[in-house]
Amino acid sequence: MPPHRYVYHLDLDEEKIQGAKYVLLPGDPFRSEAIAEEIAKAYNTKAEKLAWKREYCTYLTEIKDIKVLVTSTGIGGPAASIAIDELAQLGVNTFIRVGTTGAIQPRINIGDVIITSGSVRLDGASTHYAPIEYPAVAHHKVLFALIEAAKNLMNNLKNQFHVGITVSSDTFYPGQERYDSSSKYVLRKFQGMTEEWRKLRALNYEMESSTVLTICSALGLRGGCVTGVIVNRTKEEKITKKGLDLGESNAIKVAIRAMEFLVMKEK
Ligand code: URA
Repeated sequence: MPPHRYVYHLDLDEEKIQGAKYVLLPGDPFRSEAIAEEIAKAYNTKAEKLAWKREYCTYLTEIKDIKVLVTSTGIGGPAASIAIDELAQLGVNTFIRVGTTGAIQPRINIGDVIITSGSVRLDGASTHYAPIEYPAVAHHKVLFALIEAAKNLMNNLKNQFHVGITVSSDTFYPGQERYDSSSKYVLRKFQGMTEEWRKLRALNYEMESSTVLTICSALGLRGGCVTGVIVNRTKEEKITKKGLDLGESNAIKVAIRAMEFLVMKEK
């Protein structure tokens, strides 16, 4: 018997993940536990912590008897790329990023959910997997599952969902044209970018989707992204705890339901 394949950064091996093919990818390691517990409660199953090394915290749980992992990626493309690559090395093939976002269209409210159909690649990590001309697009089956899930849930949640283009940037401050940074300065090449992306009908800023979607497509995997709106940049810059909790929890609900749809279709 060959030894079980081990991946260094995630501190996981094939035996530990028990053949899981599906993963939810929050950014925050503490969110891994919260999501796994929510799944365990909703589907009457267990959540088992498998590993926690640096920003990578992984839980194993089940949806309708199918193994589902929850692995945090940390913030940004380089950290996310390691998580995706190492999970793919272990045989995982379906990836849903679930996180938070800043909206740049005035009609979008805090607590709304954004399903990314494709991302503007303002990151560096994804260019190590595919040239910049290559599109960062969601896999159609994951995208449909996310939309179905949002349709199903959002009526009850009193928020709306939006599907469209996300601007995915390497930095939270200059790369998302934030002036409330330590220097208060944004490089000239980024000045005015939010208005331009808004005019080009992009919906939001976040920091990992371009990496997740590009790597998944390039490696023949299935990727998708759902984020909850925690601030609307056309109105204010301040992120509140209330906004964070609402955006985060709505996105998590949609991501879990989408995962249920995917596993049920493929059972
Ligand atoms: N995450 C981001 O990257 N940007 C925001 O504005 C909010 C969350």
